[in-house]
Amino acid sequence: MRINTRLSAAVAGVAVLGLSLAACSSDDSGSDSGSGEAGGSGGDASQVEVFTWWASGSEKAGLDALVGVFNEQNPDTEFVNGAVAGGAGSAAKDLLQSRLQTNDPPDTFQAHAGAELQDYISAGQIEDVSDLYDEFGLRDAFPADLIERLTVDDKIYSVPSNIHRANVVWANPTVLSDAGLDPEATYESMGDWFDALDAVKDSGKTALSVATTWTQVNLLETVLLSDLGPDGYSGLWDGTTDWAGADVTQALEDFEKLMSYTNTDRDGLDWPDATQQVIDGQAGFNVMGDWAEAAFEEAGSEAGTDYVYFPVPGTDGMFDFLADSFTLPVGAPHPGGAKNWLETVGSAEGQAAFNKAKGSIPANTDADTSDFSDYQQTAIESFGQDTIVSSLAHGAAVPVATLNAISDATSKFTTGASDIATYQSDLGAAVNG
Ligand code: GAL
Repeated sequence: MRINTRLSAAVAGVAVLGLSLAACSSDDSGSDSGSGEAGGSGGDASQVEVFTWWASGSEKAGLDALVGVFNEQNPDTEFVNGAVAGGAGSAAKDLLQSRLQTNDPPDTFQAHAGAELQDYISAGQIEDVSDLYDEFGLRDAFPADLIERLTVDDKIYSVPSNIHRANVVWANPTVLSDAGLDPEATYESMGDWFDALDAVKDSGKTALSVATTWTQVNLLETVLLSDLGPDGYSGLWDGTTDWAGADVTQALEDFEKLMSYTNTDRDGLDWPDATQQVIDGQAGFNVMGDWAEAAFEEAGSEAGTDYVYFPVPGTDGMFDFLADSFTLPVGAPHPGGAKNWLETVGSAEGQAAFNKAKGSIPANTDADTSDFSDYQQTAIESFGQDTIVSSLAHGAAVPVATLNAISDATSKFTTGASDIATYQSDLGAAVNG
């Protein structure tokens, strides 16, 4: 199956992607040269150190699926796993920065399309790989606006591996039924959802599971999106929405209320632990990007019976977007190995295997998605018709330094060291300097 690209209008400035995929014709033209040598200028292809944060569980299973295709396509290049544990790159990004600054880059590293990638481009830490797009026949394979997010001054700086959605609620139908709720219900607004959260809380379960700071920022961005809408949310990143506004105050009050329903051990947990609480029936709801789909699948859970999912209340019709991509760092010791990796990452075969296991949808529109899960089919459909906005917690909306400042302000707030007024002004200062 080939998924064609339909461009839709960007909602507001560079912070918003106007991406969409729509179905479909039947032409499969994936790239699978299978060469052990790198294309183009070549270079040492004996091995490739691949730096990611997909170190365990369902994320490692996704990486393993990609490595399986890589090994078939490149039998003469040894894959060296440079994964560093910590969801959303919470530990990996700092370590990567110190390696890049001491001229000790991996052969390739994971980076989000959008503002985060711009950081590496501006610092001169990654190479232009546009010639590889020509060589591998990738120019037409990715949505045009996604390529735009990877491009600076007509140069393309990485190869995208996937598209994830960050505004999804995952829920345990048994916990909901036991609390007297309809497990198939969805909720129009934060206010409606609070009633359901109260019911789960009253039943003695954790109403909403969450984990360490970055997952709280992921939750925050979905509340901002719900309360401000796509234009207002996107305006937070391009300066057209006032951080001091009453609508932002309202969103922060809703965020505070949501946090009051969460597990108290949250700061010592990472995302798989919080999602596991829903899988195990300890918690009713969890807000997480759709890498959670892979965790439910890995646990053998059946969609509809063991878990249900829906857009965060108030964000139906909005797709909170992020994409992982892979780079060629300046001074990579095995550039030939890196180029072979990039070829597999971009290929229809690599993307089909990787994304099926990862819970995401392919960025390469030639990838066969016919055997993807029910959830993933809904994500493909939503991506084709929803308003696309850029994820805050996952490098699409703001540079790393801004995200770090937002994370610090959020941690300060959720550990009780600041009130809403201080949090609101801290967030404004984080974005506007
Ligand atoms: C995101 C990344 C996803 C997933 C998630 C949790 O930043 O883009 O692929 O790995 O973190 O670790």
